[in-house]
Amino acid sequence: MLDAGVVVKELQQMRDEGHLSDALLRKAVRSLKSADDRYDWVGVYLVGEGEELWLHNYIGEPTEHAKIPFGTGVCGRAIAERRNLNIRDVSKEENYLACTPETQSELVILIRAGDEIYGQIDIDSDQMSAFTEDDEIALIGIADKLAEQLAAERR
Ligand code: SME
Repeated sequence: MLDAGVVVKELQQMRDEGHLSDALLRKAVRSLKSADDRYDWVGVYLVGEGEELWLHNYIGEPTEHAKIPFGTGVCGRAIAERRNLNIRDVSKEENYLACTPETQSELVILIRAGDEIYGQIDIDSDQMSAFTEDDEIALIGIADKLAEQLAAERR
């Protein structure tokens, strides 16, 4: 089970030691992937150029979706609509980009600080309706810590 408090503490410790967002984003993905069996694919997309999301790092099956235009797929929709998305059954989504045929549900949590959106944490599960409100709350805490570092670097 994911203990978001521990992950947030580890990320803050890395910040205190002088690590930058690249290291924190990789650490977050590693921590999430190993925290829960339901998290079959875990990745971070960052806002790139030309209204596109660019895949920063991931653990799981290789994906052909390294670049996703805003509005396309679940990831692109989350950023276009500026909100988190918990998709309980991806087969019911018309606007969906499959990573693997095994994926049943998907959770996208934005990495944001105030009005600024830096990217998102994307998690796929091979289980139907895998993600609960507890997952969402935990992931928001971790995403907020990542946003803190990204905001500090953009100042
Ligand atoms: N399923 C996502 C694409 C990302 S891959 O699953 C890694 C989407 O529909 O945007």
